[in-house]
Amino acid sequence: MIIGIDLGTTNSLAAYINNGKPEIIINERGNRITPSVVNFKKDDSVLIGELAKNQQIVNSEATITNIKTNMGQDIQFPIGERSYTPVELSALILRKIKIYSEKYLGIPIKNAVITVPAYFNDNQRQATLKAGILAGFNVLKLLNEPIAAALAYGVGRKLDEHILIFDLGGGTLDITLMDYKKNLFRVLATGGSTSIGGINFDKALSDFVLHEFQKQYSINLKEDPIAYQQILIHAEKAKIDLSSVEETRIFIPYITATEKGPIHLDVTITRNKFESIINEYLKSTEKLIEETFNQFKLNSSWMNSIIFAGGSTRIPSVERTVVSTIKRLNGKGKINVYHDINPDEVVAEGAAILAGILSGELEEIEFYDITSHDLGIEDNNGSFITIIPKGTSYPCENVKLFTTAEDNQEEVIIHVLQSGVNGNEREYVSLGKFRLSNIAHAKAGEPNIDVRFSIDRHEIMNVSAVNLDTGTIKKVSISGKDWLLTGDFRERRGRGLKII
Ligand SMILES: Nc1ncnc2c1ncn2[C@@H]1O[C@H](COP(=O)(O)OP(=O)(O)OP(=O)(O)O)[C@@H](O)[C@H]1O
Ligand SMILES: [Mg+2]
Repeated sequence: MIIGIDLGTTNSLAAYINNGKPEIIINERGNRITPSVVNFKKDDSVLIGELAKNQQIVNSEATITNIKTNMGQDIQFPIGERSYTPVELSALILRKIKIYSEKYLGIPIKNAVITVPAYFNDNQRQATLKAGILAGFNVLKLLNEPIAAALAYGVGRKLDEHILIFDLGGGTLDITLMDYKKNLFRVLATGGSTSIGGINFDKALSDFVLHEFQKQYSINLKEDPIAYQQILIHAEKAKIDLSSVEETRIFIPYITATEKGPIHLDVTITRNKFESIINEYLKSTEKLIEETFNQFKLNSSWMNSIIFAGGSTRIPSVERTVVSTIKRLNGKGKINVYHDINPDEVVAEGAAILAGILSGELEEIEFYDITSHDLGIEDNNGSFITIIPKGTSYPCENVKLFTTAEDNQEEVIIHVLQSGVNGNEREYVSLGKFRLSNIAHAKAGEPNIDVRFSIDRHEIMNVSAVNLDTGTIKKVSISGKDWLLTGDFRERRGRGLKII
């Protein structure tokens, strides 16, 4: 048995194939999704999911949320005398999923497919892989979330050929254009933002509530962490209400007090007001869809269908914005809008479908993805030279000719880099370094050195440098398993924590 896991910013869940169909695994509380929240107790136990989320107000210093937005970064979350990396925290969430899945299915689970955002760079993917291994999984594949959503809709039923996948979750917006023909999925263009998501809407709505309260009582509740936490939690609830009703009210009794006595917070919000509060995000969304469309020279009326994924696509104005933008870009073309799969669950279902394909339960399909970042090397001036640009469909291979910078230079160092750290395309992640030595003495600029980058179907990148004058070859495979052997990682693996 292989399970598919959607490790989300806000919520995580798992699914498996039962009688040829994906089915969500229910957690021990009877719920289909588990909040991606971790809370450390004073003893050596740790709460994960709903239990941890319930501690957010009373015990906020020991509660960690939005871990996924920090994946791949070198940071630590201090809790008491210990501190935890995003990898360790994600591993705790994955362990929780492993435990409840084993209980639900009644068998030990070892193998998993885990989904990641399409924009994740190599560091963020490696971090996710590490978290999976640390949790005791054998991670067979990291699957891009939009592809997972497309698999959930496309496998086993007839989909139209040209699809936009619009995934707006808690932390991020992912926009993907794909085509689909006879069990072959091909990603054509990707776009999105790491600063548009449900959390941003919650914060914007909280700011409005704080402002209203301040107008009424001249008290700034943002300075009171417990009050602010409460407002954030109520703002999320109000936002969710406003997806189905036109008006809601946030009422928090005894939120603060003055010498005159306790004060209650009581603010009414209409759907219209909420829409104006998130309007700047809607405008950015429109622009990002347009940019993604323009990456690829599409005929008007190219698009056939839209797939919605992510809890935030339940907001009526989000759906309206996406549909109207696509209609405008697509001219007279007819658009089918798919939302018959629960947007919270579609990514996990897709992960389960891939798990089913890998285990042989489902029919084989093929999918071709594109690179999400520029890949290249550093030249002698420290500048980045692109070899495989962002958006290249793979499997692929690109070669560039280099030479030496100094007379009689005997070796060159090939430093492989990937663009984009935390959404900044001008910052680089180092993927590996190697030397090509024994270059015959010659004037600067005379030796001919071919640097070849290739990416295979399994997303493994090989980089080689060939001295064309002598035929000397040096190669590295950037498959990223080297870290498995490092002492630091093995040590951390041993840290025992009791999961509740
Ligand atoms: N009915 C609703 N109306 C508005 N927002 C909703 C609704 N249901 C859920 N959400 C929001 O959706 C977000 C969670 O969506 P989802 O579970 O898809 O995110 P995620 O997968 O954890 O995040 P990401 O994909 O960014 O990693 C939360 O911000 C939540 O408040
Ligand atoms: Mg998601």
